[in-house]
Amino acid sequence: MAYFYEEPSHTFGEYLLIPGYTSAECIPENVSLKTPVVRFNKKSGEKPSLSMNIPLVSAVMQSVSDDKMAIALAKEGGISFIFGSQTIENQAAMVARVKSYKAGFVTSDSNIRPDQTLEEVVSLIEQTGHSTIAVTDDGTAHGKLEGIITERDFRIDHVPANSKVNEYMTPFAKLVTGKDGITLSAANDLIWAHKVNQLPIIDDKNHLVSIVFRKDFDNHETHPNELMDTNHRYIVGAGINTRDYMERVPALLKAGVDILCLDSSEGYSEWQAKALHDIHEKFGKDVKVGAGNVVDREGFMFLAENGADFVKIGIGGGSICITREQKGIGRGQATATIEVAKARDEYYSKTGIYVPICSDGGIVHDYHITLALAMGADFVMLGRYFARFDESPTNKLIINGNYVKEYWGEGSNRARNWQRYDLGGKKGMAFEEGVDSYVPYAGRLHDNVSLSMSKVIHTMCNCGALSIPELQQKAKLTLVSSTTISEGSAHDVTVRNTSIHS
Ligand code: IMP
Repeated sequence: MAYFYEEPSHTFGEYLLIPGYTSAECIPENVSLKTPVVRFNKKSGEKPSLSMNIPLVSAVMQSVSDDKMAIALAKEGGISFIFGSQTIENQAAMVARVKSYKAGFVTSDSNIRPDQTLEEVVSLIEQTGHSTIAVTDDGTAHGKLEGIITERDFRIDHVPANSKVNEYMTPFAKLVTGKDGITLSAANDLIWAHKVNQLPIIDDKNHLVSIVFRKDFDNHETHPNELMDTNHRYIVGAGINTRDYMERVPALLKAGVDILCLDSSEGYSEWQAKALHDIHEKFGKDVKVGAGNVVDREGFMFLAENGADFVKIGIGGGSICITREQKGIGRGQATATIEVAKARDEYYSKTGIYVPICSDGGIVHDYHITLALAMGADFVMLGRYFARFDESPTNKLIINGNYVKEYWGEGSNRARNWQRYDLGGKKGMAFEEGVDSYVPYAGRLHDNVSLSMSKVIHTMCNCGALSIPELQQKAKLTLVSSTTISEGSAHDVTVRNTSIHS
């Protein structure tokens, strides 16, 4: 006979946290959001080989996670999983771009030849918005460096517009330059010692490699949580499927990927177990692979026992998701997280191995992140949240006078990622499990993530927790009635300043 769960399942909006004792040391400065990403032998005192400095990863989606998003999120201390619903070559190229990105070392995108005119300099400045232009023998970003010209070197209405660049530029002989291979801090020391605004980095043939700008030093300082590998390259993840992994995985590893995630709407399957075994057998146990999605104890145990490095939770809770409507499968995200967290703890006490879990989808308000962590998640995956930022790969449009960004599901016709949903065989007919939508544009990732993490940290202080494991231990959660929920937002008043809700 079929099994019935007698209790309804719940989602984040149906819970609140009850504050715990806040001691004097429970202040935001003392809170750490560091969290493990991959399995480790906790009992023996082993440390996880990969952790994050904030508990956020961006969704494996075309409209969310490309190389630009990955760099922006790694700067804040989280990880992006670059979408797999593209060719192996394109995905590997995105990974390679993240790994070759050197914080603070910018490939010059405003370049000119010495024989070109000041008029051309002016139009280049207008076009790119950059006031510093590298002068190279062939006018490319990696040509032989001849000089630098900036908008401060001439007044266009006081000189003939067809004057040549080489008459006004700072010539190579007078430039302060750095040699390729210099560290960012050594480059910054040169910038400060010589009071210059930029430092061209050149190779041993005087070809331009990159430029370090003074203003980027401050930028670097504002990212204390940056997530880097031992070679100072940003950490990046990538989504894979259970079909072409024998070709996709080696290409991604070659590109330098740090962690993989089997991306499927339903992960309690023979294909995921096989993929985990094959990948670990063929490419080595050191290759880190998360798996999912599951929503109960059985699903977690299955993936943990088959070697998943982390397990992702959630079916049907995503903002663009219509899986529950279409197929009638799924579970309230809070209930699923709570049950899987219990299974993770049970697996740990049995084996000594801690397998981190990720709550994926359904985060609407910032406090839902805190709730997911309090319920036992080690980190959360978000799609809609990140899609709203400048750094997401989609178009920014104006709809009804408001700025919006596009956001579509991986199971929508637009993404055509049927591999994620299709169970194989011939009987199935493709149908949509996701929608194509707009989300309100919200600005820069850095500003939003900083604010969200600040809220999480403050709530942790209210709960008397200085770390995520402490929050998981100490949290007291309560289910709330619908009247309690409406009591929680402004009520019985006419709100004057709506910005307090953002
Ligand atoms: P969100 O943060 O609520 O927008 O949810 C994002 C999550 O929704 C992703 O990480 C996926 O797990 C899931 N998802 C992405 N695309 C689809 C889809 O087309 N249908 C169902 N779920 C999806």
